[in-house]
Amino acid sequence: MRVGHELLKWSDALATGVARIDQQHKMLINILNDANQCFRDGQDAEAQVKIMEDLIGYTTYHFDSEEELMEAGGYGERLPDEEKRHVREHRAFAKAASDYQLAIRQGKPIDYEMLFGFLNNWLVNHVMGTDQKFGRFLIEKS
Ligand SMILES: [Fe+2]
Repeated sequence: MRVGHELLKWSDALATGVARIDQQHKMLINILNDANQCFRDGQDAEAQVKIMEDLIGYTTYHFDSEEELMEAGGYGERLPDEEKRHVREHRAFAKAASDYQLAIRQGKPIDYEMLFGFLNNWLVNHVMGTDQKFGRFLIEKS
């Protein structure tokens, strides 16, 4: 599903069924939308750096939290390739977000459409594919 750069809206289609993960995804959507509006409104670089910091900080916390659940649930033992792929997706997002953050700090021009097209699409595709698969694993296990 492609969502472009418009604001994201939570819907049941994004649910993993795991309360802690869904709660964090809702928060992530809120921060991503705040960042989107900040850039769209053309706020200054300082505000952009700050909101990107919030986004990176929260995704770090969220990825750690999912990866702890993987560890605790024995995901890697049961589905090693899937766990590796999942963690790789997290790392790829973290790398892209910090590359963007660096470019903003250096005052390079940021392509707003490209940035939020990427962030929004990554989030929706990751949640609807990779995270929902993991959610099903946790639910079946419990
Ligand atoms: Fe994930």
